[in-house]
Amino acid sequence: PEAITIQELANRMSERAVDVIRMLMKQGAMHKITDVIDADTAQLIAEELGHTVKRVAASDVEEGLFDAVDDSTDTEPRSPVVTVMGHVDHGKTSLLDALRHANVVSGEAGGITQHIGAYQVSSPETGKKITFIDTPGHAAFTAMRARGAKVTDIVVLVVAADDGVMPQTVEAINHAKAARVPIIVAINKIDKPDAKPERVRTELLQHEVQVESFGGDVVDVEVSAKNKTNLDKLLEMIALQAEILDLKTNSHRPAEGTVIEAKLDRGRGPVATVLVQRGTLHVGDIIVAGAEMGRVRALISDQGETVQEAGPSVPVEVLGFNGPPEAGDRLAVVENEARARQITSYRAHQKRENAAASISGMRGSLEQMMS
Ligand code: GTP
Ligand code: MG
Repeated sequence: PEAITIQELANRMSERAVDVIRMLMKQGAMHKITDVIDADTAQLIAEELGHTVKRVAASDVEEGLFDAVDDSTDTEPRSPVVTVMGHVDHGKTSLLDALRHANVVSGEAGGITQHIGAYQVSSPETGKKITFIDTPGHAAFTAMRARGAKVTDIVVLVVAADDGVMPQTVEAINHAKAARVPIIVAINKIDKPDAKPERVRTELLQHEVQVESFGGDVVDVEVSAKNKTNLDKLLEMIALQAEILDLKTNSHRPAEGTVIEAKLDRGRGPVATVLVQRGTLHVGDIIVAGAEMGRVRALISDQGETVQEAGPSVPVEVLGFNGPPEAGDRLAVVENEARARQITSYRAHQKRENAAASISGMRGSLEQMMS
């Protein structure tokens, strides 16, 4: 059954919530502003207040939000988005740090770089940019994949040469394969005396990752994040793979993207790290992601700098959401606040229903267990 809060109903009609409550009271029901009333009651109230009611289906609410199917306007080249995955402690973050620092212009502005888990690095050879996403325990990637979001073009699989293929290495391989994303293997920690890169290659073979020296087509690079060994080569291999993928986009359209992570910051309010995937996100844009909406108040780059806009493949911190969305939520820019409210209130309602359904489902199974 469809339902709506009294506040939301009042908002949509541009009426005062107290007037809605008064109408309900006339019908003998006491309500608070946050109460949810069913769609039939809402319709009655709306009509009594002189509004015409048009009920919408899910398809209407979400329609046109993501026209991913129409990619005919995607003609500009864009940077590849690379997700760094691998077993705990194999050196994902160290590798990313090394790649970034090899790159940071001397005297980095302000010196403080936000850790947003997503960065752009430019290739020393070509100057072309590569977007990296770090995955602590790759929970974020799993969440995103579970929700059908495709954010990554290439997976860099980090395997420590002294530890070899471990459970989360295998998980990462499976994720990459399921998403049909090409893998580049970074055999890390080759500076260690007990490093056995050849053993890593053999173990990878057992999981159907066949590197070139074994006759396969997966590129592997021996690196040391600690000593900054072969980092240029890794960047080169990524650039090469990206060229093959021939990634295109359209930056001249309202932004679409995916929430990488989001939190409630004490000082700044809800902060979401968003990877823009198509179009350009601007300060002032009205945005929706999952059941949250807002107006972009500020955009902060991976360098910790305030920017006015962010184009395709660019990761940014987005300030201005009314509440933190969830990792994996798709972000879209909509034409006005009314549309944003319509979408998010619909989704919030869906979410509540799903939660209620799963609770009653749980009860059901509990009862079954007891009997
Ligand atoms: P999680 O995010 O917890 O999954 O770990 P991670 O994969 O990001 O590993 P992290 O970069 O935190 O590195 C783990 C440890 O390995 C740290 O103590 C690093 O200093 C060390 N380490 C990383 N890369 C290298 C390397 O190339 N050589 C050596 N000797 N140590 C390294
Ligand atoms: Mg890490």
